[in-house]
Amino acid sequence: MSGELSPIDKAKFVAAKRAVEYVEDGMRVGMGTGSTAAWMVRCLGEMVREEGLNITAVPTSTRTAELARSVGIKVVSLDEAKWLDVTIDGADEYDGNLNLIKGGGGALLQEKIVATASDQMVVIADISKQVETLGAFPLPVEVIPFGWQTSKALIEETLIGLDVLGRTTSLRMNGDAAFLTDEGNYILDLHLHRIGNARQMSLVLNQIPGVVENGLFVDICDVVVIGYGDGKVEV
Ligand code: 5RP
Repeated sequence: MSGELSPIDKAKFVAAKRAVEYVEDGMRVGMGTGSTAAWMVRCLGEMVREEGLNITAVPTSTRTAELARSVGIKVVSLDEAKWLDVTIDGADEYDGNLNLIKGGGGALLQEKIVATASDQMVVIADISKQVETLGAFPLPVEVIPFGWQTSKALIEETLIGLDVLGRTTSLRMNGDAAFLTDEGNYILDLHLHRIGNARQMSLVLNQIPGVVENGLFVDICDVVVIGYGDGKVEV
């Protein structure tokens, strides 16, 4: 399945391959979104088809749902599964406290709901995602389309009182149109460069009218499985 991979893809693949060891027969598994998570879905699909692994998956996006079905994994909704044994997902950044920035792929809302409904969240990432302090990656914030410019202005005003280095925000685009999440919402990317207090930032953002959720995952991730381009893996 892995064939001849570039170092970055190899790093993602080996992290995914190691992380699927957290999955046991009969488990309900949350499946993240993105290029690293896609490796995990393919690995689990292979285990289902070739080893008879019996799992039920709750995907965090239509993209992941389609991929999971295409590799032979049974997909159900979170409401059907009710609770999950483990969620495996990628991240845009993780720090030494296992706090994350997610949402580069625009699936942060379902990702946070699914991870929070799991006994364990395992993050898979290549080493480039490791940071001292979160914030170099723009922080995605999902807002409803109604009055989004007011929400944007309120976010920018709120940032003045917070420990950040940058305060510009941009509407995520898909060509000429606003990018739409699976829920039909917009994403504002916050260019903060440094997030001094991730917990405070997350709480404050979610108080702003129009904000549905933000991409900071604080105290949600339990383990990070780190892949390297030479095939080494660290947990
Ligand atoms: C999607 C996410 C992804 O997990 C994150 O963007 C990492 O993606 P990739 O594995 O492709 O680097 O949060 O919303």
